[in-house]
Amino acid sequence: MTAIAIDGPAGAGKSTIARRAARQIGYIYVDTGALYRAVGLYMLKQGVDTSDSQAVTPLLKQVHVTLAFQNGEQKVILCGEDVSCDIRTAEVSMAASNVSAIPAVRDFLFSLQKDIAKTNDVIMDGRDIGTVVLPDAQVKIFLTASPEERARRRYEQMIKKGEQADYSEVLSDLKTRDYNDSHRAVAPLVPAANAIIVDTTGNTLEQSVEQLTSIIKKNL
Ligand code: C5P
Repeated sequence: MTAIAIDGPAGAGKSTIARRAARQIGYIYVDTGALYRAVGLYMLKQGVDTSDSQAVTPLLKQVHVTLAFQNGEQKVILCGEDVSCDIRTAEVSMAASNVSAIPAVRDFLFSLQKDIAKTNDVIMDGRDIGTVVLPDAQVKIFLTASPEERARRRYEQMIKKGEQADYSEVLSDLKTRDYNDSHRAVAPLVPAANAIIVDTTGNTLEQSVEQLTSIIKKNL
């Protein structure tokens, strides 16, 4: 099986770019952030403090989370329910960032991610795919863009979907998540030693997809 690892900060366009690249090369696209979001959502529903490891860890044994793939689209199933839409709120983003710093949560999701890559050719995106989950991935890419550009893209997406959004709030949430993700003790967000760094600041989506697909093809 072939694995392509794509890591990078929130809002770098990983999911959109990687999904399109996966379609072009016929791999399945796995968004691992969705798993952390599902755990975050579960803990919010239980009313626990999502950054409290003592409260979160014992509840993990009740969490049944799986990914289902239909026509190349990933669905997130939490305790038998499709939560693919419910996990996309700002509240769940922050909860995911909080639970992701808890070592027991990372252990809990580790084998699920590994198993998917054992049986499928994958483009897997996350924060620690090239460093921890799939250290032997054939191609590793670290996708990034300036915080302001990432916040602008996220803001425009929200407005397009008809959601309420405030640019400075989006930027400040994103900076908080960047800080949490890159300063946590376990599996912090860092480029793998042999990752190709791709900065998409100033690119259109099409240019980024083109750039990523060509890097992948060249390095496979
Ligand atoms: O990618 P996305 O923004 O949906 O991820 C939500 C959160 O899950 C991130 O802010 C990060 O804290 C966490 N995450 C992680 N490791 C991954 C994927 C996501 O810690 N492989």
